[in-house]
Amino acid sequence: MNILFASSEAAPLAKTGGLADVCGALPKALAQLGHDVTLIMPAYRSTKKYPSEATGVELRVWIGGREVRGTYRKCTVPEIGVPIYLVEHDSYFDRDGLYNTNNEDYRDNCERFVFFSYAVLEAVRLLDLKVDILHVNDWQTGLIPALQSIYYRDFPGYEKISTLFTIHNIAYQGAFPAAAMSLTGLHWKYFNWLQMECYDHLNLLKTGIVFSDGITTVSPNYVHEITATPGGCGLEGVLRNRRDVLWGITNGIDTDEWNPESDPFVEHHFSRETRAEGKLQAKLALQNQMNLPQRADVPVVGMVGRLTEQKGFDLVVEMICQKAFAGEDVQWVLLGSGDPILENRLRELAAMHTQNVAVSIRYSNELAHRIIAGSDIFLMPSRFEPCGLTQLYSMRYGTVPVVHSTGGLVDTVTDLTPETEADGTATGVRFSNADLQGITWGVDHALDIYRNRPELWNQLQDTGMSLDMSWRQSAEKYVELYRKIRRNRPRQK
Ligand code: ADP
Ligand code: GLC
Repeated sequence: MNILFASSEAAPLAKTGGLADVCGALPKALAQLGHDVTLIMPAYRSTKKYPSEATGVELRVWIGGREVRGTYRKCTVPEIGVPIYLVEHDSYFDRDGLYNTNNEDYRDNCERFVFFSYAVLEAVRLLDLKVDILHVNDWQTGLIPALQSIYYRDFPGYEKISTLFTIHNIAYQGAFPAAAMSLTGLHWKYFNWLQMECYDHLNLLKTGIVFSDGITTVSPNYVHEITATPGGCGLEGVLRNRRDVLWGITNGIDTDEWNPESDPFVEHHFSRETRAEGKLQAKLALQNQMNLPQRADVPVVGMVGRLTEQKGFDLVVEMICQKAFAGEDVQWVLLGSGDPILENRLRELAAMHTQNVAVSIRYSNELAHRIIAGSDIFLMPSRFEPCGLTQLYSMRYGTVPVVHSTGGLVDTVTDLTPETEADGTATGVRFSNADLQGITWGVDHALDIYRNRPELWNQLQDTGMSLDMSWRQSAEKYVELYRKIRRNRPRQK
């Protein structure tokens, strides 16, 4: 099959979160199954440090009555392993951030991604791409299925293209004031509550849901959550209408990048067999780097993530305050950036408890690897989590996840219960409520096992490390769906 994969980010070229990890790894996994995959994304500033060549192909799009020109560059990077087209338009994309700077969204985000959406569809004819499946991701590409279904489908070369829309996070919907509808180039008749409008706004996520031939999200449990209130964030009805073409496929991980046996950011590599020594070395190195006392006997709890309401860092701050004041012997290592208020709270926390709390407010892939390798416990008290990748990375490194029972965390972390302890399938601890009591219970439970039941702890680590989290299985499921949506008749306009 010929697959064109469109995304607003892909690691390592440009990344703000897990979307980039998925869009960097899934195309490669699909190609390894024998499919012809091309990736297309914007030419952000961060992509410019990778070698690329001009195609010389110019693109012209009408946006809001104005002609906007751009071009395509072509590049390949070994980590992604499929041909990549970068849509170049410097005044849109050559900026400090992908969607915002200093935590403030760019005011022309709608226009930027309308342009990108047209650029993806125009690429088919301008670059002469053969496409059976156009797989698009999140609100930034939500207009593409509508453009294909309403407009492009009648042109030669587009008739047979089916669209699959993957929702990575329903909390980000690409909602813009109604006037933005005129940027899309589509007739105002589509601005109605059944199609592109939502609470008087143009909603690009809803647009993708309504017009695509198939929809996926990144874990089966998240399908249940988003088709109900409040998990659907207002789009539950729209999703229920399309329930027959909505599926959940759990993300895999890039097992080359996240591999304790070869991780370039970890000095002492380790496997399941050499885990005890390897993790001890990784822990001592992490303590050293973060200026914490280098001690083998103290449990280290790590957390890495975007500082947003979603991830629950505020709960962690509250819990650490309580535990630190009670003199509990635990070290905490936190890495994140985002909300300036949370950033300050974390800095203050670290300043108050220098012997126990280390905080790094930045984006650092290297430190993320070192925290995931060197911690004993990895904390994920997310209020919601469509899939989550860091708990998967942690398990691969023998770091036991303590997670809120939500979204993909339920599908990927097997909770420790008497049954799962007995049959050896447990991989972590899940707690039911994303509040101070819930998280404290989860962490205390894990610490108790760490301190008092080393054999069980070993079992949790070992089971986590033995899981197959590679993309292969999930990529096969995507291929199955591609086939299914191709067999379906094209949808009515
Ligand atoms: P989300 O996509 O909601 O942010 P995921 O768990 O799916 O959550 O993916 C997050 C990805 O972003 C992981 O690869 C994680 O390591 C990375 N990440 C998040 N914050 C940081 C940070 N401050 N520094 C380095 N990596 C980060
Ligand atoms: C989103 C979600 C996260 C998921 C990632 C990749 O950013 O918040 O849970 O793992 O997308 O699908």
